[in-house]
Amino acid sequence: MSYFTEDGSEAAVLSRLADDVEPRFREMMQAAVKHLHGFIKEVEPTVEEWGQAIQFLTATGQMCDDKRQEWVLASDTLGVSMLVDAINHRRPDGATENTVLGPFHVAKAPVRENGDTICLDGKGAPCAVTGRVTDENGNPIAGAKIDVWQTNDDGFYDVQQPGVQPDMNMRGLFTSDADGRYDFITVKPLPYSIPTDGPVGRMLDAMGRHAMRPAHIHYIVDAPGYEQLVTHIFVKGDPYLESDAVFGVKESLIVEFEPDGDGWKADFDVTLKKLS
Ligand code: BEZ
Ligand code: FE
Repeated sequence: MSYFTEDGSEAAVLSRLADDVEPRFREMMQAAVKHLHGFIKEVEPTVEEWGQAIQFLTATGQMCDDKRQEWVLASDTLGVSMLVDAINHRRPDGATENTVLGPFHVAKAPVRENGDTICLDGKGAPCAVTGRVTDENGNPIAGAKIDVWQTNDDGFYDVQQPGVQPDMNMRGLFTSDADGRYDFITVKPLPYSIPTDGPVGRMLDAMGRHAMRPAHIHYIVDAPGYEQLVTHIFVKGDPYLESDAVFGVKESLIVEFEPDGDGWKADFDVTLKKLS
């Protein structure tokens, strides 16, 4: 047994970890204590500064409910969500890359036919999005489920504006045809701000960072026997591609949106990785 000292702080805490603790939890607690104590020793906070840190953590938790997840937003804006995603979705070259899910996915999007629109509020110029779902050898994957969602032409998700936008506006679940093809009508997405009315917004402000995300359309693609793909397509030329507030942009996900008659068109092929 040893009493707590500044130098021996980490050992003092870890000596209380029981021998029969579940091994993975043990590994995580050991690392958490090591890095937390390392952080404190590096920055040597004053008592007031540590109080402010506790206040930030408290406010972040208090902002969370079934509609708002400030902790996920904190994880996203500190690059942690993208790091966890990268570690868990290492893919071979050629397979479509993952990116962050974000908080605005809604289960049970309306099932739609290829060629249908997802825009229920009539705002914005139409944009046709087409593509093919294939395996890593270019073989079509028929029957893949393609769940898409985005903000409307005012830059908000339907769930951010209940009673203003129609329910399930800008959402749809499509199915690839026998040749792996899918297509839907939407509007060209716009850049938008993540929520800034909570502690994460204040943190970004204090860090001298903006809260903008470059324009994107979210995708979840599922097919039996293949790894689920959670991704976005980003609009080429968007001013926020290199400073996305949540670090979600990958080069391979940037797509050209071209003028097409009175609207726009974009094409994005999806390559799924086989489950091993
Ligand atoms: C989104 O793209 O919907 C999103 C992602 C992370 C944080 C906030 C919003
Ligand atoms: Fe989004």
